[in-house]
Amino acid sequence: MGKTAIKRIGLMTGGGDCPGLNAVIRAVTKAAINEHNLEVIGVHDGFLGLIEDHVMPLDFSDVSNILDLGGTILGTSNKANPSNYCTGRDDNGKPIFQDVSDKAAAVAKHHGIDVLVCIGGDGTMSAAAPMIEHGLDIIGVPKTIDNDLMHTDVTFGFDTALGIATEAIDRIRTTAASHSRVMLVETMGRTAGWIALCAGAASGADLILIPEIEYDLDVVCERCLDRSKHGKAYTIIAIAEGAKPKGGAVVVDRVVHESPEPIRLGGVSEVLCDQIAERTHLEGRATILGHVQRGGTPTAHDRVLATQFGYHAIELIVSGQLNRLVAMQKGQLTSVPLCDVADRVKLVPLDHAIVRACRAVGVSFGEK
Ligand code: F6P
Repeated sequence: MGKTAIKRIGLMTGGGDCPGLNAVIRAVTKAAINEHNLEVIGVHDGFLGLIEDHVMPLDFSDVSNILDLGGTILGTSNKANPSNYCTGRDDNGKPIFQDVSDKAAAVAKHHGIDVLVCIGGDGTMSAAAPMIEHGLDIIGVPKTIDNDLMHTDVTFGFDTALGIATEAIDRIRTTAASHSRVMLVETMGRTAGWIALCAGAASGADLILIPEIEYDLDVVCERCLDRSKHGKAYTIIAIAEGAKPKGGAVVVDRVVHESPEPIRLGGVSEVLCDQIAERTHLEGRATILGHVQRGGTPTAHDRVLATQFGYHAIELIVSGQLNRLVAMQKGQLTSVPLCDVADRVKLVPLDHAIVRACRAVGVSFGEK
């Protein structure tokens, strides 16, 4: 699609929700209309809106007063990947997955959508990239509390989640001290431990357990015992949901069969809490923060970032730079090819400056 031919854009939010989505919706819509006289079509519930033909025009009044609103006014879904979509179940109750990309692309075409702005994380970008082959131009806007999208230093939503997790650990600390307990706080983060790492660093956790570094149960227990013997009678452990013991497996909370990525994690903190108690006889409690990290008002940082990302998405569209992901690199707005981020995850590098700083101040990552 040539840059002059673009008249109408589609806008959708995909994957798990995240604080700041509405701020992007507002920025994209206002910048598109104000600066370039483009029409904006909102697609409901991620790609589900294209599969089921559920869209609405977006105007100023639709995006007014939503800058600080959590969630997404468009709705979202983390089950609707057009190339791998659950269309029903077979006689044995097994989900049937089909490729409905042509149908989704046809709906976009029917509504005159020239370019689709997809606000989402790795799952959404992986679902969006194949749509290019079906004739739909895409601009990706990086969203996720997990901060694990490749080629962007930061995603909006992360700062808000980090603040929530940090405040939670701060609050846990006082009750931990009162009761001389081992307290585990479990954050989201399936494969990347950014939230646990940064919240643990910000709140002075004693141990930080992340998916990138398998923990040794003996080391974790020794650290707790050591603290109980030397003055500080309590221990704080920040642990990502995807953390796992050496040679062990992640703890699965549920299986969402109709989702292309069916495994949902959760509960590793409870398992580890029991193991520590059994081995050390120290009393412990686990707190799973879960979706509280995804809800509510975005921080000022995330609102500003979301506004910049939304504006930059429109700049890319009008300059004809399509099928790219908006990114922030070294403090500068830029973009990268969408196919470079699909099916990839930005893990915490083991020599990351935050990891090294934590080690220097005595934090244990649970490894030998
Ligand atoms: O990707 C964002 C995320 O919040 C993960 O950290 C978490 O594992 C997952 O989504 C939870 O998904 P759901 O909302 O389906 O429980």
